[in-house]
Amino acid sequence: MVNRLKRGATRANRGEERNPSDVIESTKTRRNVCIVVVGLALTTIAIFRMTRNLKILPSTLVQVPKTSHSSPDGGGSNSNKKIPIKLPDFGPYQPAPVETYVLEHVKELKLDVPMPEWTPSCDVYTDSQSTPYHAQLQDFIVELEHYSKLVKDFQIPIKDLRRNITEFDNGICDLVQLHPGGMQALFSRSRQLLSLSSSGWVEPLLPPMRHAQYCFDTSRENLMRIDYILHDFHALCRKLKPHSRTILVDMGASLRYWGKSPVLDLIQLYSKFGFHFDHIYGYEYEKHDPDQVFNDVPQNLDASYHWINVGVVSDTQSRRNPFKLLQENYSPDDLIIVKLDVDTPALERELAQQLLDNPKLSKLIDHFYFEHHVNQEELKRYWGRSAGISESVADSLRFFHEVRKKGIPAHFWV
Ligand SMILES: *[C@@H]1O[C@H](CO)[C@@H](O)[C@H](O)[C@H]1NC(C)=O
Repeated sequence: MVNRLKRGATRANRGEERNPSDVIESTKTRRNVCIVVVGLALTTIAIFRMTRNLKILPSTLVQVPKTSHSSPDGGGSNSNKKIPIKLPDFGPYQPAPVETYVLEHVKELKLDVPMPEWTPSCDVYTDSQSTPYHAQLQDFIVELEHYSKLVKDFQIPIKDLRRNITEFDNGICDLVQLHPGGMQALFSRSRQLLSLSSSGWVEPLLPPMRHAQYCFDTSRENLMRIDYILHDFHALCRKLKPHSRTILVDMGASLRYWGKSPVLDLIQLYSKFGFHFDHIYGYEYEKHDPDQVFNDVPQNLDASYHWINVGVVSDTQSRRNPFKLLQENYSPDDLIIVKLDVDTPALERELAQQLLDNPKLSKLIDHFYFEHHVNQEELKRYWGRSAGISESVADSLRFFHEVRKKGIPAHFWV
């Protein structure tokens, strides 16, 4: 379900609702007071508009302020010159300290136990002695629920952000900020637990590679939650240009997955924030009844959905490798989202490896979601039967970390 939001933006243009000349004035002083008040109001509006224009100028998009409150950059001495928007550059990947800590202590945390053993991976959340970050992680869980609620209730009065972005102005992106202080403000109690990627703030890479609530309640609902994945839509919006195309590649695209595919939740999430996919390429190995697929694709995706009922392959020269299609048809200006979950560990790992090996792909892809099948005890009842799992939880943490360092915000998928 895509929200068609009709509520207009009402903030501006309110100005003067009463005409002072209509007011019957009994004394001269009252008239004077009125004039002064109206004058002040008009000046305020003028100043407000001016500062807004200044803020919209792209000059200082680069660094995110270290403090969580306010960002009165105020810069922009040349408000009349037209400067093309500069895409944000967050610099090299900055992992949250807790992410680095866990990576450096995989041995102590017993996350590097190799197959054929299976490794419990919830200790960081459930054992207060496991890391020095235990208390902050509890705060993080609370803040994450709050964030999810904000996301759930979020609405914007425009359909497609790109229509409101020009070559010179992406101030519209402020509309998709959940908090004026940005993501950091929403996670201020546990602030150092966010990582900074090439698409803005993201969740830290941590076991159990699912929502933390899964450690406390292994319900199917918690298993399939995707709202532990943080999206900095403000940053993502500022990466858009008016001509950017928006693409989702879904490898392992069955739409019948325990009822509803979580990828539909992901598509809905993006659309809620004003990102609509021009093309969705859904690759699926298992042969599906075309009538059933047709019925399962939500009608609002009819114009964008491409159902490709063949399996993907890792051969870089094959037209069944979706990365070939991306490289030959799209550019870094486009917004490209990739989801990989084909339940064949060797194949998906080979495909994922191409993100590390091919710098062109890291320029193209803006978010990567990957269900990496490893020897994680909590998921053994689902993964235990799939042949070919050869890597450990530590391998997975390292791999995602490396992909992020290459410039692709990678997330554990469900
Ligand atoms: C966004 O663009 C549309 C179409 O150009 C326009 O009608 C609408 O007023 C704009 N919305 C805002 C909030 O600027």
